[in-house]
Amino acid sequence: MSFWAPGEVSQIVRAVVQAPSVHNVQPWVLEFHERSVLLFERWDHELPRHDPKGRNRLMSCGAALTNLELAVRHLGWETTTTLFPDLAHPDLVATVTAARMGTPTVAEQELYRAIAHRRSHRFGFDGAPLSAEEAREVGNALIGERVGVRRVTERAHAGAIAELCAYTAKTLHHDHRYLHELRALTVDRSKSRVGVPEDRIGHGLFGGLVHGGDSVPDVETLTALIAKECVFVVETVDDGKWDHVHAGMAIQRAWLTATHLGLAASLITQPMQLREVRAGLSERLELPGFPHALFRVGRATRVPKASPRRSFAEVVRENR
Ligand SMILES: Cc1cc2nc3c(=O)[nH]c(=O)nc-3n(C[C@H](O)[C@H](O)[C@H](O)COP(=O)(O)O)c2cc1C
Repeated sequence: MSFWAPGEVSQIVRAVVQAPSVHNVQPWVLEFHERSVLLFERWDHELPRHDPKGRNRLMSCGAALTNLELAVRHLGWETTTTLFPDLAHPDLVATVTAARMGTPTVAEQELYRAIAHRRSHRFGFDGAPLSAEEAREVGNALIGERVGVRRVTERAHAGAIAELCAYTAKTLHHDHRYLHELRALTVDRSKSRVGVPEDRIGHGLFGGLVHGGDSVPDVETLTALIAKECVFVVETVDDGKWDHVHAGMAIQRAWLTATHLGLAASLITQPMQLREVRAGLSERLELPGFPHALFRVGRATRVPKASPRRSFAEVVRENR
Protein backbone atom coordinates (compact mmCIF):
# COMPACT_ATOMS: atom_id res chain seq x y z
CA MET A 1 0.00 0.00 0.00
CA SER A 2 1.30 3.46 -0.87
CA PHE A 3 2.15 5.93 1.90
CA TRP A 4 0.02 8.60 0.16
CA ALA A 5 -3.72 7.94 -0.20
CA PRO A 6 -5.11 8.79 -3.68
CA GLY A 7 -7.07 11.72 -2.20
CA GLU A 8 -3.88 13.09 -0.65
CA VAL A 9 -2.03 12.84 -3.95
CA SER A 10 -4.82 14.79 -5.70
CA GLN A 11 -4.80 17.45 -3.00
CA ILE A 12 -1.03 17.93 -3.27
CA VAL A 13 -1.09 18.02 -7.07
CA ARG A 14 -3.95 20.53 -7.08
CA ALA A 15 -1.95 22.83 -4.81
CA VAL A 16 1.26 22.53 -6.84
CA VAL A 17 -0.28 23.16 -10.26
CA GLN A 18 -1.88 26.39 -9.08
CA ALA A 19 1.51 28.00 -8.48
CA PRO A 20 2.47 30.93 -10.72
CA SER A 21 5.07 30.24 -13.40
CA VAL A 22 6.90 32.17 -16.08
CA HIS A 23 4.53 32.52 -19.08
CA ASN A 24 2.47 29.80 -17.37
CA VAL A 25 4.75 27.01 -18.65
CA GLN A 26 4.40 25.15 -15.32
CA PRO A 27 7.93 23.72 -15.46
CA TRP A 28 7.56 20.97 -12.88
CA VAL A 29 6.79 17.29 -12.49
CA LEU A 30 6.19 15.32 -9.29
CA GLU A 31 7.07 11.84 -8.07
CA PHE A 32 5.42 10.37 -4.97
CA HIS A 33 7.73 8.18 -2.89
CA GLU A 34 7.45 6.56 0.54
CA ARG A 35 7.01 9.54 2.94
CA SER A 36 8.30 12.07 0.40
CA VAL A 37 7.37 14.01 -2.71
CA LEU A 38 10.04 14.88 -5.28
CA LEU A 39 9.76 18.06 -7.34
CA PHE A 40 11.61 17.99 -10.67
CA GLU A 41 12.21 20.82 -13.11
CA ARG A 42 11.04 20.15 -16.67
CA TRP A 43 12.78 21.65 -19.66
CA ASP A 44 10.25 21.07 -22.43
CA HIS A 45 9.27 24.75 -22.78
CA GLU A 46 12.56 26.58 -22.97
CA LEU A 47 12.44 30.36 -23.31
CA PRO A 48 15.75 31.25 -24.97
CA ARG A 49 14.83 34.96 -25.33
CA HIS A 50 12.91 35.65 -22.12
CA ASP A 51 14.76 33.29 -19.81
CA PRO A 52 18.03 32.16 -21.42
CA LYS A 53 19.65 31.14 -18.13
CA GLY A 54 16.55 29.42 -16.73
CA ARG A 55 16.35 31.77 -13.72
CA ASN A 56 12.61 32.25 -14.07
CA ARG A 57 12.03 28.52 -14.53
CA LEU A 58 13.72 27.78 -11.20
CA MET A 59 11.86 30.65 -9.53
CA SER A 60 8.65 29.03 -10.80
CA CYS A 61 9.74 25.71 -9.26
CA GLY A 62 10.38 27.62 -6.01
CA ALA A 63 6.81 28.95 -6.09
CA ALA A 64 5.52 25.41 -6.67
CA LEU A 65 7.67 24.20 -3.77
CA THR A 66 6.01 26.65 -1.38
CA ASN A 67 2.61 25.25 -2.40
CA LEU A 68 3.89 21.67 -2.07
CA GLU A 69 5.14 22.28 1.47
CA LEU A 70 1.87 23.96 2.46
CA ALA A 71 -0.17 21.07 1.04
CA VAL A 72 1.83 18.45 2.96
CA ARG A 73 1.55 20.58 6.12
CA HIS A 74 -2.20 20.85 5.52
CA LEU A 75 -2.38 17.03 5.51
CA GLY A 76 -0.97 17.07 9.04
CA TRP A 77 2.73 16.45 8.48
CA GLU A 78 5.75 18.41 9.57
CA THR A 79 8.02 18.72 6.57
CA THR A 80 11.74 18.61 5.90
CA THR A 81 12.82 20.05 2.57
CA THR A 82 16.14 19.37 0.88
CA LEU A 83 17.09 21.42 -2.17
CA PHE A 84 19.07 19.79 -5.00
CA PRO A 85 19.62 16.58 -3.01
CA ASP A 86 21.13 14.51 -5.83
CA LEU A 87 24.06 15.68 -7.94
CA ALA A 88 23.39 12.85 -10.39
CA HIS A 89 19.94 14.32 -11.11
CA PRO A 90 20.33 18.08 -11.61
CA ASP A 91 16.64 18.35 -12.55
CA LEU A 92 15.64 17.23 -9.03
CA VAL A 93 14.91 20.60 -7.40
CA ALA A 94 13.65 19.45 -4.01
CA THR A 95 12.55 16.57 -1.85
CA VAL A 96 9.81 17.31 0.66
CA THR A 97 9.61 14.66 3.37
CA ALA A 98 6.70 14.08 5.73
CA ALA A 99 8.92 13.92 8.82
CA ARG A 100 6.39 13.40 11.61
CA MET A 101 2.77 14.22 12.31
CA GLY A 102 2.12 17.84 13.27
CA THR A 103 -0.85 20.18 13.11
CA PRO A 104 -0.39 23.09 10.69
CA THR A 105 -0.33 26.56 12.22
CA VAL A 106 -3.15 29.03 11.64
CA ALA A 107 -0.85 31.08 9.38
CA GLU A 108 0.01 28.00 7.28
CA GLN A 109 -3.68 27.17 6.91
CA GLU A 110 -4.42 30.74 5.80
CA LEU A 111 -1.72 30.56 3.12
CA TYR A 112 -2.89 27.11 2.02
CA ARG A 113 -6.46 28.37 1.59
CA ALA A 114 -5.19 31.35 -0.43
CA ILE A 115 -3.61 29.06 -3.08
CA ALA A 116 -6.85 28.66 -5.06
CA HIS A 117 -7.62 32.39 -5.03
CA ARG A 118 -4.22 33.81 -6.05
CA ARG A 119 -4.05 35.32 -9.55
CA SER A 120 -1.75 37.55 -11.59
CA HIS A 121 -3.53 40.88 -11.62
CA ARG A 122 -2.04 42.65 -14.66
CA PHE A 123 -4.46 45.56 -14.71
CA GLY A 124 -4.52 48.84 -12.80
CA PHE A 125 -5.38 48.72 -9.12
CA ASP A 126 -8.33 50.58 -7.70
CA GLY A 127 -9.35 51.51 -4.19
CA ALA A 128 -7.31 52.80 -1.28
CA PRO A 129 -3.55 52.33 -1.03
CA LEU A 130 -2.24 49.59 1.25
CA SER A 131 -2.07 50.38 4.96
CA ALA A 132 1.39 50.42 6.53
CA GLU A 133 0.53 47.15 8.29
CA GLU A 134 -0.54 45.41 5.05
CA ALA A 135 2.61 46.55 3.24
CA ARG A 136 4.74 45.38 6.16
CA GLU A 137 3.10 41.93 6.22
CA VAL A 138 3.63 41.38 2.50
CA GLY A 139 7.18 42.78 2.65
CA ASN A 140 8.10 40.55 5.60
CA ALA A 141 6.87 37.48 3.73
CA LEU A 142 9.36 38.32 0.96
CA ILE A 143 12.32 38.14 3.30
CA GLY A 144 13.81 34.69 3.62
CA GLU A 145 16.91 32.57 3.29
CA ARG A 146 19.13 34.26 0.64
CA VAL A 147 16.30 36.67 -0.28
CA GLY A 148 15.93 40.37 0.48
CA VAL A 149 13.45 43.02 -0.51
CA ARG A 150 13.40 46.76 -1.12
CA ARG A 151 10.12 48.63 -1.10
CA VAL A 152 10.10 51.49 -3.59
CA THR A 153 9.25 54.55 -1.50
CA GLU A 154 11.44 57.31 -2.95
CA ARG A 155 10.25 59.26 -5.99
CA ALA A 156 13.78 59.10 -7.44
CA HIS A 157 13.70 55.29 -7.28
CA ALA A 158 10.24 55.20 -8.89
CA GLY A 159 11.67 57.43 -11.63
CA ALA A 160 14.65 55.14 -12.15
CA ILE A 161 12.37 52.09 -12.47
CA ALA A 162 10.11 53.99 -14.88
CA GLU A 163 13.06 54.90 -17.12
CA LEU A 164 14.35 51.33 -17.10
CA CYS A 165 10.88 49.94 -17.86
CA ALA A 166 10.37 52.38 -20.74
CA TYR A 167 13.79 51.42 -22.13
CA THR A 168 12.83 47.72 -21.79
CA ALA A 169 9.55 48.23 -23.64
CA LYS A 170 11.31 50.07 -26.50
CA THR A 171 14.00 47.40 -26.75
CA LEU A 172 11.59 44.46 -26.67
CA HIS A 173 9.36 46.07 -29.30
CA HIS A 174 12.25 45.68 -31.75
CA ASP A 175 13.23 42.18 -30.66
CA HIS A 176 11.30 40.05 -33.11
CA ARG A 177 12.51 36.76 -31.71
CA TYR A 178 11.43 37.81 -28.23
CA LEU A 179 8.00 38.83 -29.49
CA HIS A 180 7.68 35.61 -31.47
CA GLU A 181 8.47 33.55 -28.35
CA LEU A 182 5.87 35.45 -26.31
CA ARG A 183 3.26 35.14 -29.07
CA ALA A 184 3.80 31.37 -29.16
CA LEU A 185 2.87 31.25 -25.48
CA THR A 186 -0.12 33.58 -25.78
CA VAL A 187 -2.88 31.03 -26.14
CA ASP A 188 -6.54 30.35 -26.63
CA ARG A 189 -7.60 29.00 -23.22
CA SER A 190 -9.96 26.46 -24.80
CA LYS A 191 -7.09 24.91 -26.79
CA SER A 192 -4.02 24.97 -24.55
CA ARG A 193 -3.27 24.21 -20.92
CA VAL A 194 0.17 25.85 -21.13
CA GLY A 195 0.79 29.56 -21.80
CA VAL A 196 -0.93 32.84 -20.91
CA PRO A 197 -4.52 33.08 -22.19
CA GLU A 198 -5.15 36.02 -24.54
CA ASP A 199 -7.72 37.48 -22.16
CA ARG A 200 -5.15 37.62 -19.31
CA ILE A 201 -2.18 39.25 -21.01
CA GLY A 202 -2.86 42.90 -20.06
CA HIS A 203 -1.16 45.79 -21.80
CA GLY A 204 2.09 47.63 -21.23
CA LEU A 205 5.01 46.65 -19.08
CA PHE A 206 3.85 47.94 -15.72
CA GLY A 207 1.03 45.57 -15.04
CA GLY A 208 0.80 43.63 -18.27
CA LEU A 209 3.35 41.88 -20.42
CA VAL A 210 5.07 43.87 -23.17
CA HIS A 211 4.16 42.41 -26.49
CA GLY A 212 4.18 43.83 -29.99
CA GLY A 213 1.22 46.17 -30.22
CA ASP A 214 1.31 48.21 -27.01
CA SER A 215 2.59 51.77 -26.82
CA VAL A 216 5.71 52.73 -24.87
CA PRO A 217 4.61 54.50 -21.68
CA ASP A 218 5.94 57.99 -21.07
CA VAL A 219 8.34 58.13 -18.15
CA GLU A 220 6.49 60.77 -16.14
CA THR A 221 3.17 58.88 -16.20
CA LEU A 222 4.94 55.67 -15.32
CA THR A 223 6.85 57.32 -12.46
CA ALA A 224 3.60 58.64 -10.98
CA LEU A 225 2.00 55.19 -11.29
CA ILE A 226 4.91 53.39 -9.62
CA ALA A 227 5.09 55.98 -6.84
CA LYS A 228 1.36 55.46 -6.16
CA GLU A 229 1.48 51.65 -6.12
CA CYS A 230 3.08 49.41 -3.50
CA VAL A 231 6.08 47.99 -5.38
CA PHE A 232 8.79 45.70 -4.03
CA VAL A 233 12.08 44.77 -5.68
CA VAL A 234 12.99 41.15 -4.88
CA GLU A 235 16.70 40.37 -4.74
CA THR A 236 18.98 37.55 -3.65
CA VAL A 237 22.47 37.47 -2.13
CA ASP A 238 23.94 35.59 -5.09
CA ASP A 239 22.75 34.55 -8.54
CA GLY A 240 22.92 30.74 -8.42
CA LYS A 241 20.24 28.08 -8.64
CA TRP A 242 19.67 28.04 -4.86
CA ASP A 243 18.99 31.77 -4.96
CA HIS A 244 16.51 31.38 -7.80
CA VAL A 245 14.52 28.68 -6.00
CA HIS A 246 14.51 30.66 -2.74
CA ALA A 247 13.39 33.80 -4.59
CA GLY A 248 10.44 31.90 -6.09
CA MET A 249 9.53 30.46 -2.69
CA ALA A 250 9.56 33.90 -1.07
CA ILE A 251 7.55 35.49 -3.88
CA GLN A 252 4.86 32.84 -3.58
CA ARG A 253 4.74 33.24 0.22
CA ALA A 254 4.24 36.97 -0.23
CA TRP A 255 1.68 36.49 -3.01
CA LEU A 256 -0.36 34.13 -0.82
CA THR A 257 -0.04 36.55 2.11
CA ALA A 258 -1.38 39.36 -0.09
CA THR A 259 -4.21 37.12 -1.33
CA HIS A 260 -5.12 36.18 2.23
CA LEU A 261 -5.29 39.90 3.09
CA GLY A 262 -7.73 40.42 0.21
CA LEU A 263 -5.11 42.17 -1.96
CA ALA A 264 -4.17 41.66 -5.61
CA ALA A 265 -0.65 41.40 -7.03
CA SER A 266 1.43 40.80 -10.12
CA LEU A 267 5.02 39.97 -10.89
CA ILE A 268 7.20 41.75 -13.44
CA THR A 269 10.39 40.05 -14.61
CA GLN A 270 10.62 41.18 -18.25
CA PRO A 271 13.03 44.09 -17.55
CA MET A 272 15.43 41.80 -15.63
CA GLN A 273 16.07 39.79 -18.78
CA LEU A 274 18.02 42.72 -20.23
CA ARG A 275 21.44 42.65 -18.63
CA GLU A 276 21.88 46.43 -18.77
CA VAL A 277 18.49 47.01 -17.12
CA ARG A 278 19.20 44.58 -14.31
CA ALA A 279 22.59 46.22 -13.73
CA GLY A 280 21.02 49.68 -13.96
CA LEU A 281 18.42 48.78 -11.35
CA SER A 282 21.10 47.51 -8.95
CA GLU A 283 23.14 50.64 -9.43
CA ARG A 284 20.39 53.25 -9.22
CA LEU A 285 18.64 51.70 -6.23
CA GLU A 286 22.00 50.75 -4.67
CA LEU A 287 20.83 47.19 -4.16
CA PRO A 288 23.28 44.96 -2.30
CA GLY A 289 22.15 41.79 -4.12
CA PHE A 290 20.88 40.53 -7.49
CA PRO A 291 17.40 41.77 -8.48
CA HIS A 292 14.94 39.26 -9.94
CA ALA A 293 11.51 40.81 -10.06
CA LEU A 294 9.23 43.71 -9.28
CA PHE A 295 6.26 42.64 -7.21
CA ARG A 296 3.33 45.06 -7.22
CA VAL A 297 0.48 44.83 -4.74
CA GLY A 298 -2.80 46.74 -4.53
CA ARG A 299 -6.55 46.44 -4.31
CA ALA A 300 -8.73 45.23 -7.15
CA THR A 301 -12.47 44.92 -7.46
CA ARG A 302 -12.38 42.45 -10.35
CA VAL A 303 -10.98 38.95 -9.98
CA PRO A 304 -9.45 37.64 -13.22
CA LYS A 305 -10.46 34.21 -14.47
CA ALA A 306 -7.95 31.49 -13.51
CA SER A 307 -5.38 30.55 -16.17
CA PRO A 308 -5.50 26.95 -17.44
CA ARG A 309 -3.22 24.32 -15.91
CA ARG A 310 -1.62 21.04 -16.98
CA SER A 311 -3.57 17.85 -16.27
CA PHE A 312 -2.79 15.48 -13.40
CA ALA A 313 -1.26 12.97 -15.85
CA GLU A 314 1.20 15.58 -17.14
CA VAL A 315 2.34 16.58 -13.66
CA VAL A 316 2.68 13.23 -11.89
CA ARG A 317 4.96 10.52 -13.20
CA GLU A 318 5.94 7.00 -12.15
CA ASN A 319 8.98 6.86 -9.90
CA ARG A 320 12.27 6.55 -11.81
C1 LIG B 1 9.28 33.50 -12.33
C2 LIG B 1 8.04 34.17 -12.84
C3 LIG B 1 8.15 35.24 -13.73
C4 LIG B 1 7.00 35.91 -14.16
N1 LIG B 1 7.13 37.03 -14.96
C5 LIG B 1 6.03 37.73 -15.30
C6 LIG B 1 6.13 38.97 -16.02
O1 LIG B 1 7.22 39.45 -16.34
N2 LIG B 1 4.98 39.63 -16.33
C7 LIG B 1 3.75 39.14 -15.97
O2 LIG B 1 2.75 39.78 -16.28
N3 LIG B 1 3.62 37.97 -15.30
C8 LIG B 1 4.73 37.28 -14.94
N4 LIG B 1 4.60 36.12 -14.21
C9 LIG B 1 3.26 35.60 -13.88
C10 LIG B 1 2.88 34.43 -14.79
O3 LIG B 1 2.70 34.87 -16.12
C11 LIG B 1 1.61 33.77 -14.22
O4 LIG B 1 1.91 33.22 -12.97
C12 LIG B 1 1.04 32.68 -15.12
O5 LIG B 1 0.63 33.20 -16.35
C13 LIG B 1 -0.17 31.98 -14.46
O6 LIG B 1 -1.20 32.89 -14.15
P1 LIG B 1 -1.69 33.14 -12.66
O7 LIG B 1 -0.54 33.75 -11.90
O8 LIG B 1 -2.85 34.08 -12.78
O9 LIG B 1 -2.07 31.82 -12.07
C14 LIG B 1 5.72 35.45 -13.75
C15 LIG B 1 5.62 34.36 -12.88
C16 LIG B 1 6.77 33.74 -12.41
C17 LIG B 1 6.65 32.62 -11.41
